[in-house]
Amino acid sequence: MSIPLFDRMREHTDGVSDQRGVPSFHIDQVDHPEQDLIVRILDDQAALPGVVRMREWARAALAVRPGETALDLGSGTGTEVVELAALVGEAGRAIGIDPNPAMLAVARERAMNVKAEFIEGSAYDLPLPDASVDAVRCERVYQHLDDPAKATAEIARVLRPGGRVVLIDSDWSTAIFHPGDPEVIAALQQRMEANSPNRNSGRHLRGRLVQAGLLIDDIGSEAVIWELESMLAMWAVASERAVADGMITPAQRDRILADIEHGAETGDHHFSVTMFAVVAHKP
Ligand SMILES: C[S@@+](CC[C@H](N)C(=O)[O-])C[C@H]1O[C@@H](n2cnc3c(N)ncnc32)[C@H](O)[C@@H]1O
Repeated sequence: MSIPLFDRMREHTDGVSDQRGVPSFHIDQVDHPEQDLIVRILDDQAALPGVVRMREWARAALAVRPGETALDLGSGTGTEVVELAALVGEAGRAIGIDPNPAMLAVARERAMNVKAEFIEGSAYDLPLPDASVDAVRCERVYQHLDDPAKATAEIARVLRPGGRVVLIDSDWSTAIFHPGDPEVIAALQQRMEANSPNRNSGRHLRGRLVQAGLLIDDIGSEAVIWELESMLAMWAVASERAVADGMITPAQRDRILADIEHGAETGDHHFSVTMFAVVAHKP
């Protein structure tokens, strides 16, 4: 059976190694050989209208001013550090911290002409002095953390009194994938989230900030809708690995791809997950 969608998904899985499991953003995967795929996934996600809207909302809520020190924790490809740099201006500091040297290299290259600093480090031990930061943003990082309470305590430590923070994260229990056999979808979801210690991170953000002694100012949400194409990189890898792990059969993979292909032809498809954002400040 020839499935055009399958061919397009192949473009995403060609060259993907079978040796290291699903590439993830977990700190123990920073030397994963498939960094290009991770960057491609982040770029696809950054272009989604829902992510763009959520970031604009979070930027407005954080209200970073000229001269301030602003941190993007788990800065990935550095896109939001560039935005912070424009807001803090020449007199301020825009800092991105990430434990992944390959990700930092991409961010530094993309921000070559921007006054921004990219520092290798972990949320568990921020390489910054106490009370030295005016604003912290941290997006889609907590789902990958084994110890989110420690990370939140570190954010509270580096914030100045009055300093603001916005935590943004998905809650994967809100994901909707349509069309497809629910059992196969559940297996693919399980495969995609295999390396995420906090798949329901979104619902815990408020509590984490309160427990760290911060005061809640606002909560927002956005059901991020993926375009079919932007789903393919994640879905392609997950379905290949799910077959390799015996979680679904090749026939089930072909069936779900045919269902998605039909959905693409008829316009009857929906892929989404809700992202939550919590804004707080240090008293
Ligand atoms: C899904 S990506 C999100 C990147 C970026 N915040 C964005 O929204 O595009 C998760 C990021 O968290 C980073 N990360 C993972 N563990 C971390 C830790 N312990 N401390 C700080 N960042 C971490 C990863 O290296 C990766 O860049």
